[in-house]
Amino acid sequence: MAENIGSIEALLQEDRTFPPSEEFKKQANIKDPSVYEEARKDPEAFWERFAGELDWFKKWDTVLEWNPPFAKWFVGGQLNVSYNCIDRHLKSARKNKAAIIWEGEPGDWAVYTYRDLYREVCKFANGLKSLGVKKGDRVTIYLPMVPELPIAMLACARIGAVHSVIFGGFSADSIRDRIEDSQSKLMITADGGYRRGSVVPLKQNADESITGDTPVEQVVVVRRTGTADAQMVDGRDIWWHELVSDQPLNCDPEPMDSEDMLYMLYTSGTTGKPKGIVHTTGGYLTGTYATTKWIFDLKEDDVYWCTADIGWVTGHSYIVYGPLANGATTVMYEGSPDYPGRDRFWSIVEKYACTILYTAPTAIRTFMRWGEDLPESHDMSSLRLLGSVGEPINPEAWVWYWKNIGGGRCPVVDTWWQTETGSILIAPLPGITTLKPGSATQAFPGIDAEILDEAGNSVGPGGGGYLVIKKPWPSMLRNIYGDPERFQEQYWSKYENTYFTGDGAKLDEDSYFWLLGRVDDVINVAAHRVSTMEVESALVDNPKVAEAACIGRSDEIKGQAIVAFVTVKENINTSDALITELKQHVATKIGPICRPDDIHFAAELPKTRSGKIMRRLLRDVAEGRALGDTTTLADPAVVESLKEQYGDED
Ligand code: WT7
Repeated sequence: MAENIGSIEALLQEDRTFPPSEEFKKQANIKDPSVYEEARKDPEAFWERFAGELDWFKKWDTVLEWNPPFAKWFVGGQLNVSYNCIDRHLKSARKNKAAIIWEGEPGDWAVYTYRDLYREVCKFANGLKSLGVKKGDRVTIYLPMVPELPIAMLACARIGAVHSVIFGGFSADSIRDRIEDSQSKLMITADGGYRRGSVVPLKQNADESITGDTPVEQVVVVRRTGTADAQMVDGRDIWWHELVSDQPLNCDPEPMDSEDMLYMLYTSGTTGKPKGIVHTTGGYLTGTYATTKWIFDLKEDDVYWCTADIGWVTGHSYIVYGPLANGATTVMYEGSPDYPGRDRFWSIVEKYACTILYTAPTAIRTFMRWGEDLPESHDMSSLRLLGSVGEPINPEAWVWYWKNIGGGRCPVVDTWWQTETGSILIAPLPGITTLKPGSATQAFPGIDAEILDEAGNSVGPGGGGYLVIKKPWPSMLRNIYGDPERFQEQYWSKYENTYFTGDGAKLDEDSYFWLLGRVDDVINVAAHRVSTMEVESALVDNPKVAEAACIGRSDEIKGQAIVAFVTVKENINTSDALITELKQHVATKIGPICRPDDIHFAAELPKTRSGKIMRRLLRDVAEGRALGDTTTLADPAVVESLKEQYGDED
């Protein structure tokens, strides 16, 4: 990775720094930097303190058993996640506090106090029991962003069933694969969900996914859109509201061993078959509890909104488990950010007086493109902290977010983590850390993150390489469901006893981490490594550019050539002159080696429903290949139009 150093200099020229304001610092949960040193000296004691803030039915005997790559945390301890997220808050005035504020896309809304949540979770947990669901059984949940989704997750946790949530944007085939792998006997779905004003036919997808040979015997259906009453299958399907109508209002929480499985969540790897990432009980809850409290500086009266979908790990950890374990008020929104208008997010912030907003860079760049007028037309003075997650945030987007959404007064915490890590591992502590736009800054206390070169040497300040985690942490994945060999191979084979993240990163002179994207997204141009993110960041730095995605296409001479797909801001004309200008802009900003070979203008970039740019599809388009799997695309038409424009050009 040594050759990467030159090309990254441009990024590191980002020299604006943002120390915490006196005002923020004064009220911050954590303001003493000694927490880092303390945790470094004794990480187990550090994590043990957080575990001790949770309610355990039986205390653990051993904090950590580490037989690489298998870790066990808080061994011998017993607890229940649903009890910790609900019951323990009922002992104080929190019982009438809003636990979940939910808004549907059509504009309907609901508030569940902790007491309400307790009742609904208990009723549904009893309903699950009445259907024969037992501790250790897997339950597939395929729901839109409705309150029944967290209720179902917490009900599973309450009785010790393992949930496997599948994002509502997945197709029948993807659901089938996941059901097959997890061997779920029960599925929970809804008739439909609302997205951009129309109904997503979830029940139809769910039905298709369990035709023929399937382990699923029963299906619980939430009535959300009223569109599938005729599709109910006798003897297999049961309405949620009928199931819970006469259930008892209390359900004793199942005491779970700390290492009992809480859930599995499928994520795509470098190969085709999705991996069921396994998370367990005590460590996962400790990790999400601790990071939510410290990184978001969570307070009793915060109204916290994470805009992710619960179908992804961000929603599991930072809509459901982390916030509820802290007794917070968590906001949930069902729909699209541009329905009915492009100011929907800002109207939600204003309506519920959100104090914390956690969203993704891709959303932020979209908002930039839509212009400042929209956030300006809403009162967002309630906000006090902003978060970013999911991909590297380019400094331009960071500063735009800070200024136009945060009004220049809210720290922006850029949080790096993965489905596998369970909770955030690299992020600022907002009362301590001086922020640098584009950098996720420092490892969370207790996390031993390093950047290694190919040979496994730590690169030190100024170096670039692979991001690894050297010590186990409580919320780490325990396995790939049913596939310990793949677990070992994927994460633990590159370096000994060290977790391989698959991300490239660079350490600056202050030992701040700069994430460069997946190592599989790195383009190798004439033996020089160029990060797609660097080129994208340089392109977006041009005032005419709204969004950019780069990929490497094969090139006879250079190995790979850089292809950029660019969307421009409103009222900007695309022309050959602009192509020349943008190529030059990148060359000037980063270096001639990073000059894109091709620039294609696109009306929109193809993205997954979770907002990730689908580079694989862009690669296919750039190289004129037939398109692979497009089932996770938010809008398949985007690719079709790209293909028509550029498909046979190269
Ligand atoms: C990959 C994990 C973590 C929740 C959402 C995604 C990238 C994530 C950042 C960040 C740069 C980031 C990494 C990582 N990523 N957060 N703040 N800065 N990159 O979870 O689907 O498991 O994806 O997302 O490449 O490996 P995921």
